[in-house]
Amino acid sequence: MAFSRSPPILLLPALLVLFLSFSVSCASSRLHRTLIPGERGEDGLVMWRRSLAENSSSVELSNSSFILAAERTDRKDPLNGYKHYTGGWNISNNHYWASVGFTAAPLFVLALIWFLGFGLVLLLICCCYCCCRRQSYSYSRTAYALSLILLILFTCAAIVGCIVLYTGQGKFHSSTSNTLDYVVGQANITVDNLRNFSESLADAKKIGVDQIFLPADIQGKIDAIQTKLNSSANDLSTKTKDNSRKIQHVLDEVVLALIILAAVMLLVAFLGFLFSILGLQFLVSIFVIVGWILVAGTFILCGVFLLLHNVVADTCVAMNDWVDHPHAHTALDDILPCVDTATANESLYRGREVTFQLVNVVNQVINNISNRNFPPRAGPLYYNQSGPLMPPLCNPYTAGLSNRTCATGEVSLSNASQVWRGYICQAAVVSGSEICTTAGRVTPGIYKQMAAAVNVSQGIYLYGPFLTGLEDCTFVRQTFTEINNNYCPGLEQHSKWIYVGLVMVSTAVMLSLIFWVIYARERRHRKYNKQFIHSGQPPLPLQEKAP
Ligand SMILES: *[C@@H]1O[C@H](CO)[C@@H](O)[C@H](O)[C@H]1NC(C)=O
Ligand SMILES: *[C@@H]1O[C@H](CO)[C@@H](O)[C@H](O)[C@H]1NC(C)=O
Ligand SMILES: *[C@@H]1O[C@H](CO)[C@@H](O)[C@H](O)[C@H]1NC(C)=O
Ligand SMILES: *[C@@H]1O[C@H](CO)[C@@H](O)[C@H](O)[C@H]1NC(C)=O
Ligand SMILES: *[C@@H]1O[C@H](CO)[C@@H](O)[C@H](O)[C@H]1NC(C)=O
Ligand SMILES: *[C@@H]1O[C@H](CO)[C@@H](O)[C@H](O)[C@H]1NC(C)=O
Ligand SMILES: *[C@@H]1O[C@H](CO)[C@@H](O)[C@H](O)[C@H]1NC(C)=O
Ligand SMILES: *[C@@H]1O[C@H](CO)[C@@H](O)[C@H](O)[C@H]1NC(C)=O
Ligand SMILES: *[C@@H]1O[C@H](CO)[C@@H](O)[C@H](O)[C@H]1NC(C)=O
Ligand SMILES: *[C@@H]1O[C@H](CO)[C@@H](O)[C@H](O)[C@H]1NC(C)=O
Ligand SMILES: *[C@@H]1O[C@H](CO)[C@@H](O)[C@H](O)[C@H]1NC(C)=O
Ligand SMILES: *[C@@H]1O[C@H](CO)[C@@H](O)[C@H](O)[C@H]1NC(C)=O
Repeated sequence: MAFSRSPPILLLPALLVLFLSFSVSCASSRLHRTLIPGERGEDGLVMWRRSLAENSSSVELSNSSFILAAERTDRKDPLNGYKHYTGGWNISNNHYWASVGFTAAPLFVLALIWFLGFGLVLLLICCCYCCCRRQSYSYSRTAYALSLILLILFTCAAIVGCIVLYTGQGKFHSSTSNTLDYVVGQANITVDNLRNFSESLADAKKIGVDQIFLPADIQGKIDAIQTKLNSSANDLSTKTKDNSRKIQHVLDEVVLALIILAAVMLLVAFLGFLFSILGLQFLVSIFVIVGWILVAGTFILCGVFLLLHNVVADTCVAMNDWVDHPHAHTALDDILPCVDTATANESLYRGREVTFQLVNVVNQVINNISNRNFPPRAGPLYYNQSGPLMPPLCNPYTAGLSNRTCATGEVSLSNASQVWRGYICQAAVVSGSEICTTAGRVTPGIYKQMAAAVNVSQGIYLYGPFLTGLEDCTFVRQTFTEINNNYCPGLEQHSKWIYVGLVMVSTAVMLSLIFWVIYARERRHRKYNKQFIHSGQPPLPLQEKAP
C-alpha cells in the first residue's frame, strides 16, 4: 500500500482508518469481495450525480468521483511543483501525504536550521577556546541579571511545556482508546448480530407445526447462507481483534515515547539550569550537546504531530462528507466499499424468505387443519377441533418478498401467541395423539409448536433493519456520525495539545540552552572581575581556570 512507505508514525492514522474500514463496514471483506464492479447500481449513481450536477455542488469535480474534505485538504503539494493539491482526502495518494507533510515543513526546516546553526555556533565557541586566547572580560551587572532572569524564565517555560505535553499525551491516549473501543464495540455488535441471525436461521430449520415443515429448498438455502454468515462473522471478529491489538500497541508506544520525552526534557532543563547556576562548566557543556540534539529531535516530532493532527482533522471532515454523500464514489470507498452488498442483500432476502415460509407453514395449519371441522375418520387431521375460528397470522412479506400490510382479521407476529392462547382446548391423549375434550381450535401441543414458529419468525423478522442497515450502509453512516460528533473533537484537540506541548518544550529548552551558555559566561566574567577587583591585579586569560 502506498502509505506503507511513509514514516512509521504515519501508520497510526492510516491504521485507524483502515481499521474503521473493515470493522465497521458491511460485515467483512467476504461481503465486499463478492461484488462484481458492474453491479454497483450504476443507474442510481448516474441519476444521483446528475441531480447533484444540476444543483451545482461546489465539491463535485467530475462525473467520476466526489472529493472528500476538498476545502480542508487544499494545500500546496511539493511533489507537484507547489501547485495546489485538489484530490481531497485520499490516503492512498502520495500527493495527499506530501501536501499534508508540507504543512509541517516549517518545523522540519526549523529543526534543520537549529541543528546546523547551533552546531556552527558550538564549533565557533570551541575554536575560540582553542585559538583566540585573548578575550575581553567586560562585565555588566545588567547583562548578568538579565541572563539569569531569562534563564529562570525559560526553564519555567520548559517545565510548563513538559506538563502540557504530559497532560496532552494522557488525554490523547484516552481519546484514541475510547475511539478504538467504540469502533471495536460496533464491530462486536455486528459480529453478535450476524451470529444470532445465523442461529435464528438454524432454529427455523427445526420448526415444524403438526408435521408440516419448511420446504426442502429453503432448508438448503439456509445451510448455504449460514456458512457465509459464519465465515463473515469469524473474519470480522479475528480482524477486529488483531487490528485493535496492533493499534493499541502502536498507541501505547507513541504515548510511552512522549512520556519519556517529557521526562527527559524536564530533567535536561532542570539539570542544565542547576549546573549552569552552579557554574559546573564541564557538565554544562555536556548538557548543551545533549540538549542540542534533543531539541532538534523534538522539533521533528512536533512536525510529525502537526501532520498527525492535520490528518486526523482531515479524516473527520472526510467522514462527515462521506456521511452526507454516501452513494458517490469517494476515496473512502476504496477502503470502505459500502456499495458491495451482495452477501448483505442475500442475507436480507434469505431472512425474508424464511420468515415468509414460516408464516406460511403456520397459516397452512390454521387454514387447512385447525379451522376446519373434520369428521373423526379424517385420521391425523382430526383432533376434535371446534369452536370459533382462529385468526390467521399476518405475513409481513408478500410472495415477492417486499413489505406487506396486514389484512383485517390477521394477527401480527408480536400478538399472535397471546391471541391464540384463547383457542387452546383441553386435551386428552388417545392412542398417542391429543384429542380435544372441550371446544377449541388447537391442542396445547400444536399451540406450542405454533408459538415456537412465531417466535422464530419474529426473531428473524427483527433482524431485518440490521441487515438493511448493512446493505445500505446506514450502519457505517451512523458510526461515522457518532465518531464525528463524539470522538473527533477530542482527537483533534488532544493531538493539538501534544503538538503545542512539544513546541513549547522544544522552544523553551532551545532558549534555555542558549542561556546556559550565556549565563555561564557572564557568571565566569563576574567571578573573574570580582576576584581581580578585590586583589587589585590585572586580569589574566580566563582559559587557565577552565577545566
Ligand atoms: C439545491 O438544493 C437546495 C437545498 O439543498 C434546494 O433548496 C435547491 O432548490 C436546489 N436547487 C436546484 C436547482 O435543484
Ligand atoms: C459528465 O459526463 C457528461 C456525459 O456523460 C458530459 O457531457 C459532461 O461534460 C461530464 N462532466 C464533467 C464535469 O466531466
Ligand atoms: C469485543 O469482543 C471481544 C471478544 O469477543 C472482547 O474481548 C472485547 O472486550 C469486546 N470489546 C468491546 C469494546 O466490547
Ligand atoms: C445475541 O444472542 C445472545 C444470546 O443468545 C444475547 O445475549 C445477545 O444480546 C444477542 N446479541 C444481539 C446483538 O442481539
Ligand atoms: C462457524 O465457524 C466456527 C469456527 O470456524 C466453527 O467452529 C463452526 O462450526 C462454524 N459453524 C457453522 C454453522 O458453520
Ligand atoms: C486516490 O488516489 C489513488 C492513487 O493516486 C487513485 O488511484 C484514486 O483514484 C484516488 N481516489 C479518488 C477517489 O480520487
Ligand atoms: C437483492 O437480491 C434480490 C434477490 O435475491 C434482488 O432482486 C435484488 O435486486 C438485490 N438487490 C440488490 C441491491 O442487489
Ligand atoms: C392447504 O390449502 C391450500 C388451499 O386452500 C392448498 O393450496 C395447500 O396445499 C394446503 N396445504 C396442505 C398442507 O394441505
Ligand atoms: C419495509 O418495512 C420496514 C419496517 O417495517 C421499513 O423499515 C422498510 O423501509 C420498508 N420497506 C419498504 C420498501 O417499504
Ligand atoms: C397487538 O396488541 C396490542 C396491545 O396488546 C394492540 O394495541 C395492537 O393493536 C395489537 N395489534 C394487532 C395487529 O392486533
Ligand atoms: C369434542 O369436543 C366437544 C366440544 O366441542 C366435546 O363435547 C366432545 O366430547 C369432544 N369429543 C371427544 C371425543 O372428546
Ligand atoms: C422465543 O425466543 C427467545 C429467544 O429468541 C426465547 O428466549 C424464548 O423463550 C422464546 N419463547 C417461546 C415462547 O418459545
